[in-house]
Amino acid sequence: MASTEEAQRTEASTLQELGRRHLWMHFTRMGAYADQDMPIITRGEGCYVYDDKGNRYLDGLSALFCVNIGHGRADLVQAGADQAKELGFYTNWSYAHPRAIELSARIAGLAPGDLNRVFFTSGGSEAVESALKLSRQYHKVTGNPLKTKHIARDIAYHGTSMGALSATGITSLRQPFEPLMPGGCHVPNTNTFRLPHGMSASDLADTVATRIEFEGPDTVAAVIMEPVQNAGGCYTPPEGYFQRVREICDYYNVLMISDEVICAWGRLGEWFGAQRYDYQPDIITTAKALTSAYAPMGAMIVSDRVAEPFMHGAESFTHGFTFAGHPVCAAIALANLDAMEREGILENVRNHEDDFETMLESLRDIPIVGDVRGAGYFRAIELVKDQDTDEQWSDEESETLLRGFLSGELYRRGLICRADDRGDPVIQLSPPLIAGPKQFEEIEAILRPVLTEAHGRMHAHHA
Ligand SMILES: Cc1ncc(COP(=O)(O)O)c(C=O)c1O
Repeated sequence: MASTEEAQRTEASTLQELGRRHLWMHFTRMGAYADQDMPIITRGEGCYVYDDKGNRYLDGLSALFCVNIGHGRADLVQAGADQAKELGFYTNWSYAHPRAIELSARIAGLAPGDLNRVFFTSGGSEAVESALKLSRQYHKVTGNPLKTKHIARDIAYHGTSMGALSATGITSLRQPFEPLMPGGCHVPNTNTFRLPHGMSASDLADTVATRIEFEGPDTVAAVIMEPVQNAGGCYTPPEGYFQRVREICDYYNVLMISDEVICAWGRLGEWFGAQRYDYQPDIITTAKALTSAYAPMGAMIVSDRVAEPFMHGAESFTHGFTFAGHPVCAAIALANLDAMEREGILENVRNHEDDFETMLESLRDIPIVGDVRGAGYFRAIELVKDQDTDEQWSDEESETLLRGFLSGELYRRGLICRADDRGDPVIQLSPPLIAGPKQFEEIEAILRPVLTEAHGRMHAHHA
């Protein structure tokens, strides 16, 4: 009789074969798996996940900024199962159901100011797509039909559908699909480590006004920004940045969309990133950790002012998705928010974010570490060629550094994080919000030797 280990090995190799033959992974060079195993994650518990071979990993990425409450929560699963028994599905397309109503009221209660109207989606791109469409239709019904453009920031990622992609500011993701939805304009992001030539941090918000003037104020519908920009590596806003953007939006009658697909639900120690930086958007887009990813769900949360024209007479927002507001997802989201409140998840982030920062800052003695930035449990380390000059890597060097060594080595040693070069090369860390000093120690125990070795290798590569 085959031992359990043998059975596990056989099952793993069957999965690997089937996966290689049939599964199309997203944003993945599938060719890389022609002659090596794909990472297959089979189960999770708390801050850890396990692969098909039984190896344990610290999930320093919360499964792509999603599993804020941690893996393996039977209570969230039970909430979904109970709901499925009562009402497996009904759509929000012309109908309501109790869980969607309860969840919309709950979200409105947590969201800042008068963001009281919730339009559900199935994910983040759909939420962004909805916000761009709503801002266009809002201006049409309020007498400004030419206001159709939106302003986003360089290197920002806002999703992949054709509208959301036109806000995404990453050339390599846009080019294969051009022409995109017209109207996407970009301004500098808040990368204060490498400011645009001749600019200071306090000039950044005003680039939005300059761009609105350039495009023509009558043609601009919305500005879309993340509280902390993910792509490029956790760019935080300079002091007063969002307050100035808010003023600019008010002045030009442009809607302010806070894209919080990552930054909501405790990631920055508050329910919403806008609360952390004390600004009032007209629309928040969110997804990912609304359910801690126990079910796919997103939302667009809209101010009373922007929703108002659609709330009477024959007017309607002519947009929707069959599955959005799915009762099973809504029940899981409610259970997730209950658990987050009951267990003080936001407080855990606030209590330990300084420990997280201190640990990452301590890595600055490794010559390859150029910058350490971020907020809450959302942080990045930028890797530089030379700490004294902050010299950047060439594309080829970045490829050797990230894909040739770091990604594989960190994973091999048991740490899932993100080694990314959509801007300059960064390592991003975004652990489940239940993590604390023990997990930070484990992260350091893996990062320190791997970054030290990366420096050695890149140095040898140059010599
Ligand atoms: C800020 C932001 N907006 C939008 C999206 C798109 O979300 P989804 O992948 O759920 O479509 C993402 C995804 O990571 C994101 O980070």
